[in-house]
Amino acid sequence: MRGACPGAASLSMELAGGCCALSLWLLLCRSPAPGAAAPAPPAGPLAVGQFWHVSDLHLDPTYHITGDHTKVCSSSKGANASNPGPFGDFFCDSPYQLILSAFKYMKESEQQVSFMIWTGDSPPHVPVEELSTKMVINVIGNMTSTIQSFFPDLQVFPALGNHDYWPQDQLSVSANEVYNAVANFWKPWLTDEAISTFKKGGFYTQLFQSSVSPQPLRIISLNTNLYYSPNHVTLNITDPANQLVWLESTLEISLQKKEKVYVIGHVPIGYLPFARNTTAIRGYYNERLVKIFRKYSDVIAGQFFGHTHRDSIMILLDEKENPINSLFVAPAVTPVKSVLQRESNNPGVRLYQYDPLQYSLLDLWQFYLNLTDANMKNESNWKLEYILTKEYGIEDLKPENLYEMAKQLTVPHSKLFQQYYNNFIVSYDKSIVCEGDCKTSQICAMQYLDHSFYTDCIQRG
Ligand SMILES: *[C@@H]1O[C@H](CO)[C@@H](O)[C@H](O)[C@H]1NC(C)=O
Ligand SMILES: *[C@@H]1O[C@H](CO)[C@@H](O)[C@H](O)[C@H]1NC(C)=O
Ligand SMILES: *[C@@H]1O[C@H](CO)[C@@H](O)[C@H](O)[C@H]1NC(C)=O
Ligand SMILES: *[C@@H]1O[C@H](CO)[C@@H](O)[C@H](O)[C@H]1NC(C)=O
Ligand SMILES: *[C@@H]1O[C@H](CO)[C@@H](O)[C@H](O)[C@H]1NC(C)=O
Ligand SMILES: *[C@@H]1O[C@H](CO)[C@@H](O)[C@H](O)[C@H]1NC(C)=O
Ligand SMILES: [Zn+2]
Ligand SMILES: [Zn+2]
Repeated sequence: MRGACPGAASLSMELAGGCCALSLWLLLCRSPAPGAAAPAPPAGPLAVGQFWHVSDLHLDPTYHITGDHTKVCSSSKGANASNPGPFGDFFCDSPYQLILSAFKYMKESEQQVSFMIWTGDSPPHVPVEELSTKMVINVIGNMTSTIQSFFPDLQVFPALGNHDYWPQDQLSVSANEVYNAVANFWKPWLTDEAISTFKKGGFYTQLFQSSVSPQPLRIISLNTNLYYSPNHVTLNITDPANQLVWLESTLEISLQKKEKVYVIGHVPIGYLPFARNTTAIRGYYNERLVKIFRKYSDVIAGQFFGHTHRDSIMILLDEKENPINSLFVAPAVTPVKSVLQRESNNPGVRLYQYDPLQYSLLDLWQFYLNLTDANMKNESNWKLEYILTKEYGIEDLKPENLYEMAKQLTVPHSKLFQQYYNNFIVSYDKSIVCEGDCKTSQICAMQYLDHSFYTDCIQRG
């Protein structure tokens, strides 16, 4: 039984001390409901592949509980923490204990996963002068060893974030101390060839050999921080670190070899769902990337990002508005928000399920920690938030199904859209509604990644 439904089995033992383990097992394994146990693994060993996605850990080593709430964490930047507890505070970046609780939950769920993707941002949000190249390197090293201590044998595919540098956002287009140090940390996970391109530009590609498919999966880890609007180093450079040329030639080779590719990166392409008319990366790079991803959409089986700290979906359309790619932005582990923000996110980690032969995406299981509840009970009660296909009533995560889902969310007064928005903020506050301009920005960003389509969508309202 444990092998068939490990998450539920361990939960039932905790809850029931063994007495009603069977009935709980039936309940949880047959129809996993949000808020219940960890997911049931696939029916047969070959039915689905799985991988973890974690993002935006943002460790704040200064976090500590103290009477003066302005002194709980440097990342609150002098503001009072709101309700500091052992697992953190919404005005602070992650205490180490929060990060440990996330990895502990993932490990104890006993999910059979083939690999993990980790899309960057380890250091805290603090003023530039409170960090240094050395401190940034130390935090990335700490997070790397922490992951390795929980998952010593797991293949991890990392990507750099805009905070994984000093000064933040100013990632370099050539070899430097940070890329070099981080490459050394990541040597246990990456091939010599990947390490070599990473040291020069902070990006790499590597094959993942599935035990089932004759065809390996290609991971392309992009350094999209080179395109991030606040990066002044790359102003006026048409192809920073020649990453665009490298990306196209890598995808061209994949096409010829009939490979499938997962693209991972920190800063997402497309428009920000919570802001009007704003791309996260500079518009020029966004247009170029959209073109490349359209051209090679047959090869790309999924794209995975972080950075916004929120849970969102994007569907790449071709010039004729046919859905051709599925893109996912994973929410952060850090719950931090600034004093100016109305809402934040609860800490989240996620699991994807894929077809181990073709690598097409089947489903997504989002887990979260109700930070308020965890602090109140002094208990790291991570749990399932939702299962994407069940939540939105679609069959799998193929672009056409996500596009169908987007159309449903667009309907005026859609209840499903309010659910999507609640998931966007990782169940931070169910009473927050997103209507009018808020909804328009979300809906347009979800479906239109290039300037011309996006602008048309906004103008339609
Ligand atoms: C990582 O940082 C935490 C918090 O500062 C510290 O307690 C822990 O010992 C560090 N671990 C490593 C491996 O550096
Ligand atoms: C923090 O809270 C204390 C006690 O409520 C208050 O006196 C102080 O002004 C607050 N500080 C800031 C920066 O809001
Ligand atoms: C970029 O180009 C603009 C206009 O040509 C110029 O004013 C600016 O100084 C350039 N910036 C850099 C960093 O080269
Ligand atoms: C959106 O921003 C772009 C520049 O990034 C500008 O050209 C365009 O006019 C703006 N559109 C709207 C509707 O504000
Ligand atoms: C989170 O926990 C708090 C405190 O127990 C509770 O009031 C709130 O409803 C919970 N939120 C969710 C989404 O379950
Ligand atoms: C919270 O629980 C931990 C053990 O799980 C314990 O060491 C700690 O003292 C508890 N903290 C509080 C405030 O009760
Ligand atoms: Zn971040
Ligand atoms: Zn970021």
